[in-house]
Amino acid sequence: MDKKKHIETCPVVIPRRFYDCTLNEKLLYTSFLLLAGLAYLMALAYLYTSYNGIDGEPGLSVEDVAENYYGNRSGTRLESALRGPMAGYIETEQRNHIVEWLKSGAPEADYTRLIKPILAERCVVCHSPSSGLQIPDLSNYTGVKQVANVDTGVSLHSLMKVSHIHLFGIALVALAIGLVFRFALLPTWFQYTLTLSPFVAIFTDIAAWFLTKWDPIYAYTVIIAGAVLGLSWALQILISLYQIWFLRCRAD
Ligand code: HEC
Repeated sequence: MDKKKHIETCPVVIPRRFYDCTLNEKLLYTSFLLLAGLAYLMALAYLYTSYNGIDGEPGLSVEDVAENYYGNRSGTRLESALRGPMAGYIETEQRNHIVEWLKSGAPEADYTRLIKPILAERCVVCHSPSSGLQIPDLSNYTGVKQVANVDTGVSLHSLMKVSHIHLFGIALVALAIGLVFRFALLPTWFQYTLTLSPFVAIFTDIAAWFLTKWDPIYAYTVIIAGAVLGLSWALQILISLYQIWFLRCRAD
């Protein structure tokens, strides 16, 4: 009897659901979710147009993502051209000189001594501004250098720039969408998973950008994490919009 007095009963907290929200809140959430969804679609379109065909093939592919972050390190544009479309304009021995020079880092001193005469003899007829063709200018070192660099993809510095903007921005958007989505009435495990997944996805995605710079295999991780982010947001937005306007409270 006496003891019982000191035991307080916890108030039973019933979480708010969309049907508990005022019309004003519902309008606010709906407008926000629609604009956020539109922003996401716009981001997808932008992504598609900026990655599309990096590897020379139309469409967004794992190769495009890998080439963007890792680069194409198999060689330089000059070497691929010499082994490919331009092979017919040069003797094998001359080509070997140029490839060796490329492998040694394409220094200017050797260019003047060894490479310039070969290019002048074989290539400059077409590859100089005077030819009027929109092709690399091989009549001077600066021009040659542009096709003589190994392509190592986007620089670490711009990766850091883009990733901090993305981390701040996406974390805030994920928070805002998640704050609305918490009013949804769903099995607990499902709601928790869906609330966490955008955060896990964006972390994985951005970590994978850096990993892809190191090994192109992580391009798959970039794509899968991006897909998980898109899918989680799509579900959060659609479920919320549906429940805001169609889910009614049952009497029991
Ligand atoms: C008869 C004219 C002609 C000659 C000679 C010529 N090229 Fe070209 N080259 C072109 C044209 C046209 C293109 C652009 C079309 C293409 O890429 O096939 C081109 C493209 C290139 C490219 C750019 C490929 C890319 O990655 O976009 C390189 C590098 C190149 N040539 C190197 C050379 C070298 C080195 C030589 C000398 C051994 C040479 N070319 C001789 C006409 C010529």
